[in-house]
Amino acid sequence: MKLCFIGTGYVGLVSGVCFADIGNHVICVDKNLDKINRLNIGDIPIYEPGLSEMVKKNVDVGRLSFSNDLIKSANKSDIIFIAVGTPTSNDGASADLSQVFNVAKTLKKNIKKSKIIVTKSTVPLGTNDQIDKILNGKKKNKLFKVVSNPEFLREGDAIKDFKYPDRVVIGSDDKIVIRTLNALYRPIINKGAIFFASTRRAAELIKYASNAFLATKISFINEIADLCEKANVHVEDVAIGMGLDKRVGSRFLRAGPAYGGSCFPKDTKALIHTSKKFKSQLSIVNSVIKFNNNRNLHIEKNICRILKNKIKNKNVCFLGVTFKANTDDIRDSAALYLISKLSKKGANVKYYEPTGKKDFFDKNEKVKYFSDLYDAIKNNDLIIIHTEWDEFKSLDFTRIKKNNKKVKIYDLRNLYDSKFFQKSNIFYYSIGRPLYA
Ligand SMILES: NC(=O)c1ccc[n+]([C@@H]2O[C@H](COP(=O)([O-])OP(=O)(O)OC[C@H]3O[C@@H](n4cnc5c(N)ncnc54)[C@H](O)[C@@H]3O)[C@@H](O)[C@H]2O)c1
Repeated sequence: MKLCFIGTGYVGLVSGVCFADIGNHVICVDKNLDKINRLNIGDIPIYEPGLSEMVKKNVDVGRLSFSNDLIKSANKSDIIFIAVGTPTSNDGASADLSQVFNVAKTLKKNIKKSKIIVTKSTVPLGTNDQIDKILNGKKKNKLFKVVSNPEFLREGDAIKDFKYPDRVVIGSDDKIVIRTLNALYRPIINKGAIFFASTRRAAELIKYASNAFLATKISFINEIADLCEKANVHVEDVAIGMGLDKRVGSRFLRAGPAYGGSCFPKDTKALIHTSKKFKSQLSIVNSVIKFNNNRNLHIEKNICRILKNKIKNKNVCFLGVTFKANTDDIRDSAALYLISKLSKKGANVKYYEPTGKKDFFDKNEKVKYFSDLYDAIKNNDLIIIHTEWDEFKSLDFTRIKKNNKKVKIYDLRNLYDSKFFQKSNIFYYSIGRPLYA
């Protein structure tokens, strides 16, 4: 099939490339010309394992191309996917849908042939009805068939998640459209994904409810971790014991810093905003948002305690600043909050990040990027293991001891066993475990 992805970000690029890889002809469109120019010379603008090779392979066989021309690309395609951003609005709560509606308006103005329009962007309950209205007005014979097809991939595992998802959700009541999308996803369904067709509104809510549930799971184990620290219990023991029950499941039960990233924080807030419109109270999701905000504060307090409340001129090194490993995405990462607070309190913050320097910190003169892990690790009062990158899982502690006097490590990802540090001059602190000084 001929597909067009509007929005070539984490979702649009990965989905487009994966659909090309299973035999479709795909044009990935973005309004950001620099992004398109980079992609056209094989320079991938995001860090996602395996993506670069897959882009090259599909460009070489002529199934994948990149363009800045939305109208031309959409006109050439049978199915048009909207995969633009839906960040939090300036009001700090609702989803900003301007990018989605702008695309719908451009399509309405310039496309005169019947097309299937698939919304892959995460959009609140009722948004596809609004897109439908923009595209078709009140006409009974609709030129545009508007479908909701939320995306569940995780950055860092995006290719695997896209090609081998647990389910593909399609929200539409049009039998022909459902059949077409079933055919498009057939190679993925044949590998074991469940194809679930629902109403458009249910599909929209499935996405938000899933993200809110996962955010709840993370917050739940983080809260249990706080109890463990006070009660001399290992949170990992509790998580393993809980996860062995299939009704609970072991995933998303790893205690750590506040959840971040481009989805959970914005989607939980948008869900609350939507629920208010429907005069419904989502008290659990509300508590999760509150708990997660406090989690940042809680970790900040722990850092201050570890440094005996003397933060000024202390050298603090962050290992990793992205919200999770295997991505370069720092949107709503806990590191943004922590680094800003510590630098305001006078700490000299260094950071090493495997995906490179982040412009976000450039204006803060108390924050310095190091391109070499062991250069960053020299002469610190505190090293904070923030992101669970593989390269932090077997650090050279002999070198760390040599290059630091009495260093403290705060491991927010529990990558090490506390016992390992008992007889060393490294003071090791972790999450939800006994031996917390
Ligand atoms: N990132 C994830 O892990 C993830 C997972 C599932 C769902 N989602 C959802 O998918 C959507 C996209 O997320 P993302 O992380 O890929 O966003 P992103 O910010 O990485 O990419 C969006 C892209 O859309 C482009 N764009 C905006 N308006 C455009 C227009 N009119 N024409 C062409 N291009 C345009 C932007 O330039 C940008 O490159 C969001 O709704 C998000 O919630 C994201």
